Amino acid sequence: MTPYYADDLVTLYHGSMFDVLPELGRFDACITDPPYGTTNLAWDRWPTGWPDAVAEHTDTLWCFGTMRMILARADEFDGWRFGQEIVWLKNAATSMITDRFLRRHENAVHWYRGSWPGQHRALPKVSRTGAPSGTRARPGDDGGPGGDGVFDRHFKPFRPWVDDGTRWMTSVIEAKSEPKRGRLNPTQKPLGVLTPLIQYSVPEGGSVLDPFAGSGSTGIAARHLGRRAVLIEAREEQCEATAARLTKPIEVGFNLEGLTT
Ligand SMILES: C[S@@+](CC[C@H](N)C(=O)[O-])C[C@H]1O[C@@H](n2cnc3c(N)ncnc32)[C@H](O)[C@@H]1O
Repeated sequence: MTPYYADDLVTLYHGSMFDVLPELGRFDACITDPPYGTTNLAWDRWPTGWPDAVAEHTDTLWCFGTMRMILARADEFDGWRFGQEIVWLKNAATSMITDRFLRRHENAVHWYRGSWPGQHRALPKVSRTGAPSGTRARPGDDGGPGGDGVFDRHFKPFRPWVDDGTRWMTSVIEAKSEPKRGRLNPTQKPLGVLTPLIQYSVPEGGSVLDPFAGSGSTGIAARHLGRRAVLIEAREEQCEATAARLTKPIEVGFNLEGLTT
C-alpha cells in the first residue's frame, strides 16, 4: 500500500478506512473525529461499524463529538468501555439557535478495551502558579519524602504539597477554534486540544491512528510530540491539502511549552 504522504513520523493513506485499516498493525491509541451527519457536506455520513474496525487495531479510542451524537450512536461502541470524557471549550459559540444554550463546547469520549490499569494514562500538567488545587503544606512539614515524621489522620506519612509551577490538567481543555480563513477542513481540530490527549494516551515513541484525518491535525500534534501517526482520509482533494500542510515543518500559533508530562 503506497502512502499518499510520509515523513519520519507521519504517514497519510488515501482511501476508505475500511479498506486501509486491514493493512495496518496495532496502535497505542486512536484519536479521531468521525463524520456524524450533522451537516449537509457530502462526506458527512456516519460510517457504520467504524468503532468495530478500529477495535482490531487498538484498545484506546478518543472520539470527538457532541453528547447528542454519542447517545444516538452508543450501540456502535458495543464492546468498548466508557473511560472518561473531556470538554473542549471553544473561544466562541458555534450555534446561534437561541432556544437552547449557545453551544461553546464539544466532547471527546475516551473508550477503552481490556483493563483500566492496562491503559497508558500520563495525565499532562500545565504551567501555572497561584492558589494550589491539591493538598496544602502544613506548618512544620519539611517537604522531604514522607514528611518529617508527621502522619495524617489515616496514619500515613504526610507528604506536603510543593509548588513546582505546574498543575494537573483538568477535563475542560480550552482551545481556540481554527478560524475559517486558513483551515483545511470545516471541522478542523486545534492542536491545543489534540496535544494533551496524545500526551495522555500515547507513550513517547508510540503511535496514534486517525482514520478520519481531515486536515491532518492529529498528525501535526503527534509529530510535535515526537510520536508516530498514521492518518487515513477518503477524499483525494483533502489528502492533497493535508499533505501540503504536513510538508511545512513548523506550525505557528500554538505553544507547546506550557504542557509537560
Ligand atoms: C469530521 S472530519 C475530520 C476533521 C479532522 N479532525 C481535522 O482536524 O481536520 C471527517 C473526515 O473523514 C473523512 N471520511 C469520511 N468517511 C471516511 C472513510 N470511510 N474513511 C476515511 N475517511 C473518511 C471525510 O472526508 C472528512 O475529511
